[in-house]
Amino acid sequence: MDRTLTLLGIESSCDDTAAAVVRLAPGAAPEILSSQVLGQTALHEAFGGVVPEIAARAHAERLDGVVEEALATAGVTLDQIDAIAVTAGPGLIGGVLSGVMLARGLAAAKGLPLVPVNHLAGHALTPRLTDGIPFPYLMLLVSGGHCQFLLVQGADRFVRLGGTIDDAPGEAFDKTAKLLGLPQPGGPSVEAEAALGDASRFRFPRPLLDREGCDMSFSGLKTALLRGRDALVAEKGGITVQDRRDLCAGFQAAVAEVLAKKTARALDMAGEPPTALAVAGGVAANKAIRAMLETVSTRAGVPFLAPPLRLCTDNAAMIAWAGLERLRAGLSHTTDFVARPRWPLDDRAPALLGSGKKGAKA
Ligand code: KG4
Ligand code: ZN
Repeated sequence: MDRTLTLLGIESSCDDTAAAVVRLAPGAAPEILSSQVLGQTALHEAFGGVVPEIAARAHAERLDGVVEEALATAGVTLDQIDAIAVTAGPGLIGGVLSGVMLARGLAAAKGLPLVPVNHLAGHALTPRLTDGIPFPYLMLLVSGGHCQFLLVQGADRFVRLGGTIDDAPGEAFDKTAKLLGLPQPGGPSVEAEAALGDASRFRFPRPLLDREGCDMSFSGLKTALLRGRDALVAEKGGITVQDRRDLCAGFQAAVAEVLAKKTARALDMAGEPPTALAVAGGVAANKAIRAMLETVSTRAGVPFLAPPLRLCTDNAAMIAWAGLERLRAGLSHTTDFVARPRWPLDDRAPALLGSGKKGAKA
């Protein structure tokens, strides 16, 4: 690619309405000219999870404004955009459709190429946007909706080495917080409590560690936590502040150990040593988990990479970038595509069981 490309990215597959402008000039590092993210936490708070109909409506109402803001912040007009990249799945279908309809309309009105992007590819290609690392690298995607190990070999080549067979770790953090009366999102509040607790007091299960491969399971953890809490309540009529801290510490230690051990396994399974271990997703913000992953990675002689959190969590810069990578690699772009609620990155990997609170897992 020997000319500068400026892409508009649109993301609306879950509970963030996002638009961004990303530019790549020949010989230069990519530049994020803008990245607007409008969250919907307040709209779903009362329901204990994302309500698909509410999410879709909010996306439909807000997308135009968010796109306008992204263009204005970047200081460009649609006439200076070379292509539009849009999340075409996987995700909550009403939201995905809102984004795809808007992108189709803008692309048709301006005669621009439209690049359908897999949301997971957006996450998986982010380390190249932030750090320019070469293929192949190992990505651990760990959030409220996803948990999988991907070997990223090219802009369109992903091998799924394993992942959760039930809940995503972020969901487990959120449920733990709920069970212990801590505020949502659960990750940061459980982490803060855990920092003051004794991780050795409650020994929670480490599911699937004895099984080969790097599949994981987190749904049993919340049941174990519930039992631990209820045993304390039965014993003394309630739980103390210190009990809560210890429960959080025990829970977090279990999640961290499973992620770390399975990461070591995934690094082994990668074959040719990957150029890096990169993490993405909200759970990657957890300092204890991050530290354990970094240790595993360093021990295997593989550099550890954690892009800034605003680019690890859902955003549209990663979608614009994934679109740019596809254009640059000469991969087809077309208006002839459908929005997909499920869209595994690696078609050869066996389908996953279960579906997370934020919709079907890919
Ligand atoms: O990537 P993300 O913002 O959204 C999607 O799930 O798509 O991830 C949000 C999840 C939530 O479940 C939240 O509880 C979790 O990431 N999270 C954390 C931390 N910060 C956010 N989990 C553990 N420790 C944290 N510090
Ligand atoms: Zn995501």
